[in-house]
Amino acid sequence: DDILHAPSYPWQHLGLLSSYDCAALRRGFQVYRQVCATCHSIERIHYRELVGVTHTTEELVAMASEVDVLDGPNDEGEMFERPGKLADALPKPYQNEEQGRLANGGALPPDLSLMVKARHAGHDYLFSLLTGYCEPPAGKAMMPGLYYNPYFPGGLIAMPPPLNDDGVEYEDGTPATISQQARDVVEFLNWCAEPEADSRKKDAFTYMVVLGFTALMTGYYKRFRWSTLK
Ligand code: HEM
Repeated sequence: DDILHAPSYPWQHLGLLSSYDCAALRRGFQVYRQVCATCHSIERIHYRELVGVTHTTEELVAMASEVDVLDGPNDEGEMFERPGKLADALPKPYQNEEQGRLANGGALPPDLSLMVKARHAGHDYLFSLLTGYCEPPAGKAMMPGLYYNPYFPGGLIAMPPPLNDDGVEYEDGTPATISQQARDVVEFLNWCAEPEADSRKKDAFTYMVVLGFTALMTGYYKRFRWSTLK
């Protein structure tokens, strides 16, 4: 079938000694909230985890409080709605799978928490998928409610092209082209799937320095310190 393999793009944040770009994460979270969140959940991320990553505590408290969260049962045994707080997960667009499918012509928009890790070459695939919508080749059998995307296995996807040029307006003035939004939201989704990546790399660097020092000392002891005992 006509499936394209995503090319590999030079993601800065994947470098051995590089970190996530917080400005990109902030823009990516904005794309998620304003575009993807209409249909997709990120159920594994809570507002508090974004503190100091994309926004300040105050900004996230305000953002969370705009959402109505179902809580309970209370002392009377009733469920009730309250404003969201930092400890809440990001809101889900649908109550359950059935509602999600009903709203999307039978297809289910998957949770995006771990999507970067769930697909082969996740970053490159997601970027290609988001930017890859095009006219179907002549003769391709199309179906109502499906869109042509050569990066999606089979070429027909139930997700309408989500991104538009200037579909969001970035606070930092970055031009919101389709590819810029795709790049930012993919970096954000990478953070969601691997929030520990920066500290993991920092720890790895420390271990390598300590290991290197240990190796040198071992060499020193063998060659000079204990050499007279042979
Ligand atoms: C599927 C990402 C916006 C509806 C997917 C998949 C990803 C994704 C990664 C899975 C593809 C795969 O299985 O390999 C995104 C991102 C969005 C976005 C990053 C925002 C930029 C939307 C919107 C809608 C939507 C706004 C609804 C109008 C769907 C549906 C599927 C899907 C129905 C299932 C497709 C199928 O199985 O044929 N999306 N999406 N998505 N998305 Fe989105």
